[in-house]
Amino acid sequence: MALIALGVTGGIGAYKAVEVARGLQKRGHDVVAVMTHSATKFVGAVTFEAITRRRVITDQFETGANSDIEHIALASTIDLLIVAPATANVIGKLANGIADDFLSTLYTATRAPVLLAPAMNTNMFAHEAVRKNLDTLAARGVRFVEPGEGYLACGWIGKGRLAEPDEIVAAADVILRPASPLRGQKVLVTAGPTYEDFDPVRFIGNRSSGKMGYAVAAEAVRRGANVTLISGPTSLEPPAAREVVQVRTAAEMHRAVMSRAGQMDVVIMAAAVADYAPQRAPQKVQKGADTLTLVLHKTPDILGDLGHRRLSSAKGPVLVGFAAETENLLARAAEKRAKKHVDLIIANDVARSDAGFDVDTNAVIVIGPDGSEPLPLQSKARIASDILDRVERVLAAHGSRTDQGTSQVRG
Ligand code: PMT
Repeated sequence: MALIALGVTGGIGAYKAVEVARGLQKRGHDVVAVMTHSATKFVGAVTFEAITRRRVITDQFETGANSDIEHIALASTIDLLIVAPATANVIGKLANGIADDFLSTLYTATRAPVLLAPAMNTNMFAHEAVRKNLDTLAARGVRFVEPGEGYLACGWIGKGRLAEPDEIVAAADVILRPASPLRGQKVLVTAGPTYEDFDPVRFIGNRSSGKMGYAVAAEAVRRGANVTLISGPTSLEPPAAREVVQVRTAAEMHRAVMSRAGQMDVVIMAAAVADYAPQRAPQKVQKGADTLTLVLHKTPDILGDLGHRRLSSAKGPVLVGFAAETENLLARAAEKRAKKHVDLIIANDVARSDAGFDVDTNAVIVIGPDGSEPLPLQSKARIASDILDRVERVLAAHGSRTDQGTSQVRG
C-alpha cells in the first residue's frame, strides 16, 4: 500500500519500534527503517532488517549505497515518515532544521506527512525548550502520538513513555487513509447478545461476545463517524463512541434503536438479538417436576421494523443486518435481506469454529444490491473495515438518490 520510512532514535522505547514495523506491515505497508547511531545501541539493525526485509539505513555516508543521493531518493518516494521513539534531541534537530545525520536530513528533504511519537523523561517532556520545539513542529503540520503515562525506564512516574505500537500504527493509518465518506455521519451499531430473563436469577442468552459489533463501531469511529453503540451484555471495553447504551433484553434494544434510528445515516445490526423471550417469573422458579416447560413469545424484530418504517417514508438510514446461519447460508441470508428490506446483509456461517460467535476472526459474504461478495477469513477488525467500505458505497448511492428526490425503497 504505502512506503513508510520508520525513523528509530536512541531511547529505551526503540524496542517497541520493532512492533510498529510489524504492525505497519500487517496493514500491507512497506517499511524502510532508518536508525540513528544511538538507536543501534538499543536494538540491532539486523532485527529491523529481518522484519522489514530491506537494508536498514544507519549511516549517511555508507559506501556502496550512494549511487544516487539516498536521502533525496527516499525523501521523494515515501508516503509517510514516522519517528518512534522521537527523543528530545531529534525533536530539537527537526524543529531547528539541523540535518547532521540520515534521519534529520530525510526529514528536511521530504514533503511526505510526518508523524512523531515522542518518548523521554517526564521533566524533559515538560521542559520549555522541548515544548517550544514540539509547538514549532505542530505549527508546521507535523502530527504526534502523545506519550503514555506511567512508570518510566528511568524510574520516574509520569508522562513520557512511548505510545503503544497499536496507537502509532492507528495514527499512521488515519494519515494515510483518504477522508472517509463516513466522516461526520451518524452511525448506530448494535453488538453483543440479549439476555431474556425467565426468573430473577436465570436467563436465555446466546454465545455472542460483542467482538464483531465492537469492531464495526471502532472502525466507524476511526473513520470519523459519530457513533452510537447499543450493546447487549459483554465484557468488552467500548470504543470512543459518541454514545454507548447498555441494554439487556431484545425489548430494551428495540426501544434504544427505534428511538434513535430516525436521526441516523447508517444503522448496522451486528447484535445477536433473541427471537423469542420467556415471561419473567417474579420469584426464582423452584425445582420440582422432572421437566420444566417455558413458553416463549416472539420478540420485536428490530431490523424488520426499521426496514418497514423506511419503506413507508421518503427518507431513512442505510440499513445493514447480519444473518447468522448454520446451513443454507446464502439462500437464508438473501431471504432475510428481502424480508427486512435492508441494503446489505452480512451472511455469517456460524457453524465454523474460526468464524462467527466468540472468536477473533470471521469470514462472511456481503449480499447487496449488486449480488454477493465473499470476505475471506481474517480478523474481525479487517472484516469490519471491509464491511464499512461497502457501506460507504451504499451511502454514496443513497446520497445521490436523495439528491434526485427519488424513492428510498430498496429490495
Ligand atoms: O458477537 P460475536 O461473538 O463477535 O459474534 C458475531 C455474530 C456472530 C453475533 C455476528 O457476526 C452476527 O452474525 N450477528 C447477527 C446474529 C443474528 O441475530 O442473526 P439473525 O440471522 O438471527 O438475525 C438477522 C438480523 O436481524 C441481525 O442483524 C439481527 O441483529 C437482527 N434481529 C434479529 C432478531 C430480532 N428480534 N431483531 C433483530 O433486529
